[in-house]
Amino acid sequence: MDKTLIVTNDFPPRPGGIQAFLHSMALRLDPSRVVVYASTWKRGREGAEATAAFDAEQPFTVVRDRTTMLLPTARVTRRAVGLLREHGCRAVWFGAAAPLGLMAPALRRAGAERLVATTHGHEAGWAQLPAARQLLRRIGEGTDTLTYLGEYTRSRIAGALTPQAAARMVQLPPGVDEKTFHPGSGGAAVRARLGLTDRPVIVCVSRLVRRKGQDTLIEAMPRVLRAVPDAVLLIVGGGPYRADLEKLAASRGLTDSVRFTGPVEWEELPAHFGAGDVFAMPCRTRRGGLDVEGLGIVYLEASATGLPVVAGDSGGAPDAVLDGETGWVVPGGRPAETADRLVELLRDPALRERMGARGRGWVEEQWRWDLLAGKLRELLAPAG
Ligand code: GDD
Repeated sequence: MDKTLIVTNDFPPRPGGIQAFLHSMALRLDPSRVVVYASTWKRGREGAEATAAFDAEQPFTVVRDRTTMLLPTARVTRRAVGLLREHGCRAVWFGAAAPLGLMAPALRRAGAERLVATTHGHEAGWAQLPAARQLLRRIGEGTDTLTYLGEYTRSRIAGALTPQAAARMVQLPPGVDEKTFHPGSGGAAVRARLGLTDRPVIVCVSRLVRRKGQDTLIEAMPRVLRAVPDAVLLIVGGGPYRADLEKLAASRGLTDSVRFTGPVEWEELPAHFGAGDVFAMPCRTRRGGLDVEGLGIVYLEASATGLPVVAGDSGGAPDAVLDGETGWVVPGGRPAETADRLVELLRDPALRERMGARGRGWVEEQWRWDLLAGKLRELLAPAG
């Protein structure tokens, strides 16, 4: 493999699915052949220190731009070109195609031989807006390959591209580390710490934003509790919607049966999945399709942990579930349908066991990082 410059606004320590995807992929490339050019996480000393501490632990070079939002400006393009030349990179991987993929022609003129740009949920949203569609089209023309997560994102994005660029698209979903996420990952200790040892637990792990549907889960709880009175909803993660969610739970008198852990450290994440009997995140599409789920790594992390999942039908989320086999897909934003599936699973240990085992097997067969990283390495290899 030749050297690759990874250009991305989304990189840890900033949390999120795109960030986790890129970092996991970068760790599986040869570290001596990777240079990451990324934004700084947050403004101020705290952000700079956390970013520096994270970077110091990486096995590859990370170069941070001073900005917290990396955009394809003339200055950023000059810096990317400079890094390409300075490090002798022959391949470029744009972690998210839009908008940084607009720099592709400049990097090609500077000597890049392979340009790969990965698409997520937001590019599928862009594909619906006339001006943004034009930009996506340009990104498709300037790069060798646009990757997509699953059929939902492919079909939306392909429609905005030239037929040639659409034909060059390749599927590259994120994977799951099946050694990190596995049954028996420490859930009993988390339950004991939270005083939930003997209670049926529905767990949701995600950033707290409206699209993810933690509000639907809270609205579903009264119906769940009528059938399973000691059930608990464990909401793991942090985000801007937290105060509203807490108010919603309090207003429904659910302070005992809805618990919030706040954000958890990476090392603690598998145990928090393991604390659940069922995983649920009934995500919904918002803003006329602009705010949409690209895939939903959390469903796969839950499956790897051996949990059945209840997923919403937003965008590509159904691609991360075998409906009726690893869990259920429900209409996003519908508490009654969500509650009925949760009750069905909470009342039937054999069904949970069967769906959890099928999910674990599916991750082992199809979502392993080593398989997916191999695909990325091939895409980044210059021809000849
Ligand atoms: N450490 C930690 N702590 N990790 C967390 C926490 C937390 O409190 N909450 C969520 N995460 C992790 C999840 O475990 C998962 O690995 C990631 O953050 C979230 O990933 P997604 O479920 O995929 O959601 P996203 O909205 O941030 O990601 C977007 O891009 C993904 C990759 O293309 C969406 O479009 C997804 O649908 C898409 O899969």
